[in-house]
Amino acid sequence: MPQLLTLTRAARLVGSTRGALQRKIKLGELETFEGMVRAEDLLRAYPEARLEDNTVIERMAQIKDSAFSKRIRERLLPDAEILVARLSALGKELADTKTQLQQYRGLIERFQNTLGAAEQEADGDARRAVGALKSWLQRELQPAALGVDRQAFLVKDSFLRLMTAHVQILPSQHEFFVEGSDSLLEAALRAGLALDYGCSNGNCGLCKARLVSGQVKKIRPHDYVLSEADKNAGCILMCSNTAVNDLIVEAREAGGAQDIPLQRIAARVKRVEPLGNEILLLHLQTPRTNRLRFLAGQQVSLGLPDNSLVAEYPVASCPCDDRNLEFHIPRLPGNAFSDYVSKALKPTDVVTVEGPKGTFVFDDESHRPAIFIACDTGFAPIKSLIEHAMALDVAESMQLYWIATDGRHYLHNLARSWADALDSFGYTPLAGGMNDALARISTDHPWLGEFDVYLAGPEPAVDEIEAALLAHGLPRQQLFSGRTP
Ligand code: FES
Repeated sequence: MPQLLTLTRAARLVGSTRGALQRKIKLGELETFEGMVRAEDLLRAYPEARLEDNTVIERMAQIKDSAFSKRIRERLLPDAEILVARLSALGKELADTKTQLQQYRGLIERFQNTLGAAEQEADGDARRAVGALKSWLQRELQPAALGVDRQAFLVKDSFLRLMTAHVQILPSQHEFFVEGSDSLLEAALRAGLALDYGCSNGNCGLCKARLVSGQVKKIRPHDYVLSEADKNAGCILMCSNTAVNDLIVEAREAGGAQDIPLQRIAARVKRVEPLGNEILLLHLQTPRTNRLRFLAGQQVSLGLPDNSLVAEYPVASCPCDDRNLEFHIPRLPGNAFSDYVSKALKPTDVVTVEGPKGTFVFDDESHRPAIFIACDTGFAPIKSLIEHAMALDVAESMQLYWIATDGRHYLHNLARSWADALDSFGYTPLAGGMNDALARISTDHPWLGEFDVYLAGPEPAVDEIEAALLAHGLPRQQLFSGRTP
């Protein structure tokens, strides 16, 4: 039976991304069967892939790690109990395979003997035909016929199964890997999925899901009590369990901004620091048990102190790290909020976060190549979207245009590091007049019909760019825009 692989697993095995595999499928270079690919087809599509080469995955992991703060990969290895369980499952599989192999060997030996006897008894054409069949069988049984690539592939697949567990979510069919001792919820968020959850800490029960197959291990006690009916139905809490082996789980996911509840959280200032002369980075941290659930691109109200000053800002960080929230606050002369942030706000001060708000979010189901256009501090929600898109790994390619009207791209090095790390990511910093910037985008993309475009910045700039893009042939439903202060 051919070995079928999900796209996520296949991408890992050949050291590529899901987006790159999807491009090959679209070009007809790789066949799929109900969303799965055959190991043989994968090796044919990637004849040059060195199976020990994980460069792309490692680069992507580094980007995700920096978006997810340092707590990720603190414990890269699964704990001993999980490793033992996975080793014993692999050992059982090996034993079953060996038994089967012995049966096949016996069968082939008997078949060879039967062919030998038939060759002796036959004559003429029949004898030649049986002889040819015997020789063919002999050739096919040579160890080299299996192929070095195929062997390396099997070794890598086994190693991947030892180190990580694959999880498929129903009914969406979304998938992700659980690494180390991450909870199922942490791993899903890191993969860009918007699972239903609340406290992340075993109290609220919102992350309750039904285990369809596989085995989980509780990694923290939880106060939420699962009823007998829940237990009988196989319910688990995603925030309190990790995966022992590959799982299928039935879980609720947000289908859009309307599914994310409004939250009010007292967060604390972790740091305030300048990003160049004009922008301040405000880093807030929520309590461990009261994190902000939001979608990339959304904004919140920030209230300080005692809510006497309130302003709305897009979250500049990735929803994959729901505890560490970053904001890019422009220093505006005479603006009481930015003055307070710049002169009075100190680490550990409390800031009230209310949100999320807005519908400027990523279309997770689209596989179209994405163009991101940020105008000035429109980079904040665009940064969140890009980090989310990288975690999700569905877009075929991503191109960022950052228009800085004052010529200062305050996180230029970060944007450049994305482009340096990923072949499928392009970055073009633009400065000066809007007309020049629009001319450059139109020249680079004479036909916009196949792209999704995400555009963010101050209202007048967004209005102007929107009108130009639509006039240039971008379908309305493929344009997503967000207005920033
Ligand atoms: S998120 Fe609250 S119990 Fe899991």
